[in-house]
Amino acid sequence: MKYDFDQPVNRENTLSLKWDVKPGVLPMWVADMDFRCAPAIEKAIRERTDNGVFGYTVIGDEWYDAYISWWKRRHGFEIKKDWLMFVTGVVPAISSAVRKFTTPNENVVIQTPVYNIFFNSIINNGARVLENPLKFDGEKYEMDFEDLEKKFSDPQTTLMILCNPHNPVGKIWNREELREVGRLAEKYNVTVISDEIHCDLCDPGFEYVPFASVDETCRSVSITCIAPTKAFNLAGIQTAAIYSANENLRHKINRAINTDEVAEPNVFAAIIPQAAFNQSEDWLDELRQYLFDNKQFVRQFIKENIPEIKVIDSNATYLLWLDCSAVCKDATVLKDYLAEKAGLLLSEGEEYGQCGKSFLRLNTATCRSRIEIGLNFLKKGIIQFRQEEMQ
Ligand SMILES: Cc1ncc(COP(=O)(O)O)c(C=O)c1O
Repeated sequence: MKYDFDQPVNRENTLSLKWDVKPGVLPMWVADMDFRCAPAIEKAIRERTDNGVFGYTVIGDEWYDAYISWWKRRHGFEIKKDWLMFVTGVVPAISSAVRKFTTPNENVVIQTPVYNIFFNSIINNGARVLENPLKFDGEKYEMDFEDLEKKFSDPQTTLMILCNPHNPVGKIWNREELREVGRLAEKYNVTVISDEIHCDLCDPGFEYVPFASVDETCRSVSITCIAPTKAFNLAGIQTAAIYSANENLRHKINRAINTDEVAEPNVFAAIIPQAAFNQSEDWLDELRQYLFDNKQFVRQFIKENIPEIKVIDSNATYLLWLDCSAVCKDATVLKDYLAEKAGLLLSEGEEYGQCGKSFLRLNTATCRSRIEIGLNFLKKGIIQFRQEEMQ
């Protein structure tokens, strides 16, 4: 390996959201990684700061070329330059879209359990969450198309936020599933926002399918959000992109993000995608292997040591979705217990919708030695929790 992901990185006193925890608590919750970013990215930031002037900044041709070339090379999909626009983040883009594409009390469909901030983007902007829960058979998750059609057929439904690949269940949607979403969206005149922020974090050998690449229908009903921030660990830089092949949707989302003032880059946001996509491909490939090995390590440890917890099979993201229903029905209680008594901070499943109530989400994007510490905290915590429950 050229890059050393085993090296622990000290993130204390860096105003890190993830590490804003009590001393002694290991944070394995919010989705960012405890790794230094790729050397080419650090170098690009250093070179830019050497200039010492940080004035208003514009997006250059290199920014467009970097996105277009990456999606063509890595995902086999050609994004046209005039489809693309800069935005400060995927969440700002989604919130803007909700404001622009819904009137008060219209429905936005999401497939729960799903990224918790989707709920905020919908509710805070005066729309309603309409859940199309994923079907769970105790082992794996599937889309429920019968229910999706029912939800789309409500004339109050105008928008869907698709999570592709899916956070927290780690599922990569296949072409047929996405085609069916597109077909139903067109039939009921629903616009699809495809959030593809996790797309570069598929397991080695697995590929995601860009929603807009599926067919002309998917292209015409959708707006897609992409970014280098999740895969290259740059969430604090706030840089993302939106594209749509549909001229009308493109015009509307462009007006939305400009009205909301989330369409202008800071100095780093304008250069970092180039350093990531053009110069850090080998770093990402090694990272993906490291994350995959971490996930396998966690699965094996839990199987051998805490078999009452079931790790849901997945092929994308560094997040593992843990079915804790055999330990307790309300995993929020368990999460609080682990944070207080075992020194381990995970995310509670209920944040991702009621159907996630007996689950916890574990972030595996840290060095192996911390994974081992976290797993031992988890094992100790579960044993103690069960003993106290029995008393
Ligand atoms: C599905 C999904 N979308 C969006 C985001 C955040 O995007 P941004 O930081 O660009 O606002 C996350 C972060 O975890 C996420 O999981």
